[in-house]
Amino acid sequence: MTKDQTGAIRARQSRASNSDQAERLWDVARVALDRLYGHLPGHDAWLDSVRRQVRDWAARRRPDLRALDAARGDSSAWLQQPRQIGYSFYVDRFAGDLPGLIRRLPYLRGLGVTYLHPLPLLRARDGDSDGGFAVADFRSVEPALGTIADLTALAGALHRDGMALILDVVCNHTAAEHDWAKAARAGDPRFRDYYHVVKTAAEVEALEADLVDVFPVTAPGSFTWSPELDGFVWTTFHPYQWDLNYANPAVFAEMLDILLFLADLGVDGFRLDSTAFLWKRAGTACRNEPECHLILQAWRALVSMAAPSVVFKAEAIERMETVLPFFGSGAAPECDIAYSNGVMAALWASLGLERAKPMRALLEAASVKPARASWLNYVRCHDDLIWSALSPHVPAAHQRRVSAFFSGAEPGSYAAGAPFQTLGEDVPSTNGMAADLCGVGREPKGLDRLMLLYSVCFVLDGVPAIYMGDEIALPNNHAPEDGSLLTADGRWLHRPHMDWEAADRRDDGQSVAGRMFRHLQTLAKVRATTPAFRGDLPALPAGRPPESILSFSRGGPGGVACAANFSARPVATTAAELGAPSAWRDLITGETGDGEVALAPYQARWLAERR
Ligand code: GLC
Repeated sequence: MTKDQTGAIRARQSRASNSDQAERLWDVARVALDRLYGHLPGHDAWLDSVRRQVRDWAARRRPDLRALDAARGDSSAWLQQPRQIGYSFYVDRFAGDLPGLIRRLPYLRGLGVTYLHPLPLLRARDGDSDGGFAVADFRSVEPALGTIADLTALAGALHRDGMALILDVVCNHTAAEHDWAKAARAGDPRFRDYYHVVKTAAEVEALEADLVDVFPVTAPGSFTWSPELDGFVWTTFHPYQWDLNYANPAVFAEMLDILLFLADLGVDGFRLDSTAFLWKRAGTACRNEPECHLILQAWRALVSMAAPSVVFKAEAIERMETVLPFFGSGAAPECDIAYSNGVMAALWASLGLERAKPMRALLEAASVKPARASWLNYVRCHDDLIWSALSPHVPAAHQRRVSAFFSGAEPGSYAAGAPFQTLGEDVPSTNGMAADLCGVGREPKGLDRLMLLYSVCFVLDGVPAIYMGDEIALPNNHAPEDGSLLTADGRWLHRPHMDWEAADRRDDGQSVAGRMFRHLQTLAKVRATTPAFRGDLPALPAGRPPESILSFSRGGPGGVACAANFSARPVATTAAELGAPSAWRDLITGETGDGEVALAPYQARWLAERR
């Protein structure tokens, strides 16, 4: 056989296997779509139109993106590689705009970051937009940040460097200023049906009896009166964020098209915002209804048909047991990665209580996730720290204690956070940058605490993400120009402007910024180069260490054992108690030891067998 003939056979085989794969994915999508919309008239014709829509996008996938799909093995496995480190930030606060961001890529690369998660950058409504989470146009960029061409250029620049871009897609709602909402207000029945409009105050009252307010003080209630619609629009979050009506298949198809449009620009993944809220059912809290999962299964399969390596990140800030289903099943996958918000809250709870128990409990609970999916591990993000995510694994009394502690309300607390809005008996969540919650700058051990949290976060199974500024221990935001934002929404306390002067001191190993930056660089480097971090093994508690010490192992025998001291006191323990190799080497500090292991206050060690 000639070389040409072999090539032709390979190409035929690859086309055949691609079309088999497309059929399999279509079957998954169809099952979900039948369950969601099969009872509606014209369903079969609608299904045909969805299939055509996806085929059109698949046919026009750019050659460079196809090559990326092929190199990544057409799946989300690329995001599970140990070298992957995320960075979440506001484009304006970090770099001014998208061209500015491209200029800052060397800084992020130097830190070890491999994928970017900019907070919403699509065109938002004017005025208050919940930090960009009220989108007025999903197909253009916020003008102050740049253009679609800039976004495409960013994706290209990242790909050239082996990096990736995960974009926020606010799929649960649009701004009241979105064209769909405008058309609905103008009386177009087609667009009225894109939203949930309730006719009477009595209906609102009946629905609200089961709903929980997300912002009980600044945006109480879940409905907003619209005189033009002569009804109450469902607005789970703020009155200007109109919930989309996914019982209408047209809304499903619109959002699918937006995902495919963005994937076509070179976006590598989506953070799907507020996924727990996508479906409404009277008489329930309208959170985590089974249809939310069907929508994600269908989007997942359809996006895979056109853009196979694009990943989905679930933003479901719920209890661990409620987050797990967002990974879907082997037969019907949903999200490839999900915020491990329970473990994140447990990190802080263990720190506040100086006890490893909360972390042990949440690690056990997290360990049952499917191997094909990953946790997104993080220390802080742009939202408040929600303690109720620890239920039922950590008692409410402990949640209350750490909430008071980190909000700075307890005498002797090193933390300078602030409580976020809560009503009644709920445990207040906490605002504040990690550095200020750890007491950096107020207390000699503040930086050790911040380093401890990131050391544990980076050794867990899953993908670690850094929140903007934590790499230089950036403090809370008290910028005078943000005064009105801070008054309106306490979460702006942890949405500071990047301090580039401090960042420029990152090579100075004596400065706070330099120490933190180097620490993260080391963690990133060790992750990327240590075989134990390959493969997706759960981080299971190991050994029987003292109660302030968390110890767990990654990678089985020959792997890495993490030992983290959550207390302010030094602890002398043994490798046996930690479930670590007796002759050990600390991959973070390079120190070695035999049998005995000493941990300084708030020290974490990554212990591997000394060879
Ligand atoms: C998500 C975002 C949060 C926003 C909300 C409404 O929870 O993380 O910042 O307020 O969605 O869009």
